[in-house]
Amino acid sequence: MKLAEFDAWAHAEVDAVETALQTWVPGDAPAGLGRTMRYGVLDGGKRVRPLLVLAAAQTVHGQRDAAMRAACAVELIHAYSLIHDDMPCMDNDVLRRGKPTVHVQFGEAQAMLAGDAMQALAFEVLTPDEGVPPALQARLCALLARAAGHAGMAGGQAIDLASIGHPLDEHALRDMHHRKTGALLQASVLMGAACGQATPAQWAALADYGDALGLAFQVVDDILDVTQASATLGKTAGKDLDNNKPTYVTVLGLTAARRHANELRDKAQAALARSDLPDAAWLSLLADKVVERDS
Ligand code: IPE
Ligand code: IPE
Ligand code: MG
Ligand code: MG
Ligand code: MG
Repeated sequence: MKLAEFDAWAHAEVDAVETALQTWVPGDAPAGLGRTMRYGVLDGGKRVRPLLVLAAAQTVHGQRDAAMRAACAVELIHAYSLIHDDMPCMDNDVLRRGKPTVHVQFGEAQAMLAGDAMQALAFEVLTPDEGVPPALQARLCALLARAAGHAGMAGGQAIDLASIGHPLDEHALRDMHHRKTGALLQASVLMGAACGQATPAQWAALADYGDALGLAFQVVDDILDVTQASATLGKTAGKDLDNNKPTYVTVLGLTAARRHANELRDKAQAALARSDLPDAAWLSLLADKVVERDS
């Protein structure tokens, strides 16, 4: 029963995010840029980060307009990171979300500029002229900027590229994954929490949940890269090995990587369990989905 309810909730929220992104991502940006941005972010992806924002906001009765803006902003940053991640100077991939990558479709300059514009648009979406109190706008911008920038996603991506062909120990690998992927996922949870009134204890529990879930997400991504087909993933399977990347699979082996993903899920669940959050069922099911997914 709970699972069917969750699926209905997630389906409706993904639709709502799609509709909001359709409105906010401009088709008429100059010289084809709007078309490229829309190609990169609309109609694709699992939308895990928006769902985390919206589920966290729901547990603290967060303001809906602010939460929807935060959900779209984090997805814009994520989609921009994917466009750049796929470029020839980074992972050099040709398939994303079941379609040719943005640079394959529209060229490298458009891919770079679409990413640039989507990053700026994320902060524009977070700062409307009315509807969201200025203090909350600032809080959401700070959480997202810190997760996206040098200490988070961009910094982690720099470590990722600097690690090609180098054996990393588990500590260094964990640090890289926390930054390149974990930071944005944890920020999704905290942005949702910021839209309502979380007590310090609830905030700390959600931070721990997001931390464990964020790392689990990339451990599973590393596993899926070697266990799934491109058609299931919607992106090129086996890419990490091709690119000589250190991953949880190369460092721990497949069995231990799987075990670790389960441990991280348990850690995320334990953080929710010790919090006194009134309804964390959707967050709990999202943690299960992140670890049990096949794409
Ligand atoms: C892929 O993220 C890149 C990582 C950070 C691991 P997702 O698996 O969330 O990709 P989409 O959004 O569903 O395409
Ligand atoms: C990407 O990690 C992390 C990002 C910040 C985009 P990967 O390079 O493993 O992501 P995929 O497998 O290409 O989606
Ligand atoms: Mg990469
Ligand atoms: Mg990649
Ligand atoms: Mg990957």
